[in-house]
Amino acid sequence: MGTIEKFNSHIMPTYGRFDVVMESGESRTATDESGKTYVDFGSGIGTNSLGFCNEHWVEAVCAQAHRIQHTSNYYYTKVQADFASRLCEYTGYSKMFFGNSGAEANECAIKLARKYSFDKYGKEAGRNIIITLVNSFHGRTLATLSATGQEVFHNYFFPFVEGFVNVEPNNTDDLKAKLSEYKGKVCAVMFELIQGEGGVCALDKEFVKAIFEECGKDDILTICDEVQTGVGRTGTFLASEQYEVKPDITTLAKGLAGGIPIGVCLADEKCADVLTKGTHGSTFGGNPICCAGGNAVLDTVLEKGFLDEVTQKGYYIWQKLIDHPEVAGISGLGLMIGISFKNKKAADVCKACLDNGLLTLTAKEKLRLLPPLTITYEEIDKGIEIIKKVLEEKE
Ligand SMILES: Cc1ncc(COP(=O)(O)O)c(C=O)c1O
Repeated sequence: MGTIEKFNSHIMPTYGRFDVVMESGESRTATDESGKTYVDFGSGIGTNSLGFCNEHWVEAVCAQAHRIQHTSNYYYTKVQADFASRLCEYTGYSKMFFGNSGAEANECAIKLARKYSFDKYGKEAGRNIIITLVNSFHGRTLATLSATGQEVFHNYFFPFVEGFVNVEPNNTDDLKAKLSEYKGKVCAVMFELIQGEGGVCALDKEFVKAIFEECGKDDILTICDEVQTGVGRTGTFLASEQYEVKPDITTLAKGLAGGIPIGVCLADEKCADVLTKGTHGSTFGGNPICCAGGNAVLDTVLEKGFLDEVTQKGYYIWQKLIDHPEVAGISGLGLMIGISFKNKKAADVCKACLDNGLLTLTAKEKLRLLPPLTITYEEIDKGIEIIKKVLEEKE
């Protein structure tokens, strides 16, 4: 039995997969089992932030695997303490909780926000509503699916978790109207600064400013889901730096440990001590190998000049594609890029790129590019050449 047949016989068919069996990766190139190579413009959906098997990262992860791979959260580990303190110091947050995915990081944020209001205003106040944005994506657990502002995800799994109200992105009037309708009942507003799965759509600075102003009036927490935008993806470590805001809570995952499972919920002083002993937990959360991977990512991403390079490379990709006759528009920030086309369908372009040796992604009707942050200009040129070739192919 071949790999694909064996796979499909034993693994639930929850993903739409291409008929490619990936075997190995080096730097920004993946190789499939037939030996065909692919330039990587997807980084495993923004996760292999340093590319495939980055030497420094491999050394850190392997050294930790030789030292101690897991202990349970009944004990302390130095690697976890070191990683958490570096992350807090750089981002300016007070404390964090470790989970294993973006959805878990957001679950933690949701629980934290609700408990913050519960502790402060009491159960009777019922301050438990979380406002999220239409077109958002926050994860696949029941609470994060419920938080996700897309009807297409609200099916089959009834009953969904109560207490989420959606507001149109970039619509301050709608935000104010919902805050007024649910006055005294809202504990948090949760948003992605650039909606990734929603089509690489950035929020306007004015709207983000309004979120912070309105929340500030009524002790409502701001939760920024930086699962996709964080860890240097947009050219600053957090996208919120470019929006010049400091959310009460920020969640990170994807690229944070360079391709191994992690999710983090960062909380500022105001709410850092809300989740107390026994109120939250995760067996694998803060796993030493993942924290070692995370330290290696920080070593690289926080090196002087690295993040400026991310911005420049993103700009370089824009410049190379923006004037192409088939390109209708480009959205995003840094190395988080969405491209819409005049005639072609993004899914067809993505498949044709794969056939031609380039890994890309889609988001709604756009082709989405999330290259590893370490990608070189030479590799970018190679990938762009493939995209252009595909765009010029006749139907
Ligand atoms: C903004 C955002 N939040 C949450 C998630 C869920 O992350 P995970 O798949 O690691 O649970 C994703 C995944 O695409 C995401 O893009």
